[in-house]
Amino acid sequence: MKKWSASRAPAGRIAYVNGRYLPFAQAGVHIEDRALQLGDGIYEVANVIGGRMLDEEPHLDRMERSLHELGISMPMSRGALKLVMREMIAKNRIANGFLYIQVTRGAVRRDHVPPVDGPRPTLIMTMRTQDMAGLSQRLEKGIAVSTQPDIRWGRRDIKTVQLLPNLLAKQAARKAGAFEAWLVDNDGYVTEGSSTNAWIVDKDGTVITRDLSTAILPGVTRRIILEAMADAQLKVVERKFTVAEALAAREAFLSSATGAAVPVVVIDGQTIGNGAPGALTRRIRELYSDRAGVNTDLKKA
Ligand code: PDD
Repeated sequence: MKKWSASRAPAGRIAYVNGRYLPFAQAGVHIEDRALQLGDGIYEVANVIGGRMLDEEPHLDRMERSLHELGISMPMSRGALKLVMREMIAKNRIANGFLYIQVTRGAVRRDHVPPVDGPRPTLIMTMRTQDMAGLSQRLEKGIAVSTQPDIRWGRRDIKTVQLLPNLLAKQAARKAGAFEAWLVDNDGYVTEGSSTNAWIVDKDGTVITRDLSTAILPGVTRRIILEAMADAQLKVVERKFTVAEALAAREAFLSSATGAAVPVVVIDGQTIGNGAPGALTRRIRELYSDRAGVNTDLKKA
């Protein structure tokens, strides 16, 4: 892998589209791409730290699964994808940032019916730098979440580019002065955040996060945290929890590739625990960082 060097800025303006590395301004897809016309595609977001992509295999596993569930073929072999991902990190010269991958069913005359002999899938990769100052503030102070009805479809386990309900929920949360929306199903249980998984810690110190099903996205960060917690013999239960339980929790946090474990200190305007980021949340963040091989500076972000 090419070595990343901070002195080689500017960063983050090269996109990969169907075999070509192009400046953002020149990168584009066909107007009949099925993701643009019909939302027919999937995506992945991975954290890049110190020029290295975190949790590469689990992200690729999930990508393959999403594609399989929709009957879209892999745009290229896993090995070739890894090469393009590394090339993107090198070309963009981004030390700490995010790699975005979209795969769509491809460009073909508009029709609701997916083509039997599909066109070649479209593969897009872009990168952006991480706002370390913003993350650092969120870790130090914790964030507020606002509960919103979960109006998404029935296959939330597939990471599709159809994010309209997610972004409307996030927008409503921001209007309510919160950083993230926690989505609530018809029975009053929290499913997950609009772009994160949701966690609480009960009065006994047991960590709770919703069990995997078609109701939530199987977060890569969620998976790594669960593995790390099992190794550290911390108490964790995978089950659904209500908004009332969340409000009574000792600690709460959210997880995603974009922030690992971020403390939640306010839910719907009500303070959680003592209103400060929790000790267990911090411990879990450190466990995640150790497992992902992130250096200690970035643990604090
Ligand atoms: N979102 N749940 C939803 C609905 C998500 O969109 C995400 C990720 C997660 C967390 O998954 P992971 O740990 O694999 O990042 C859970 C990405 C970051 C996004 O859409 O930007």
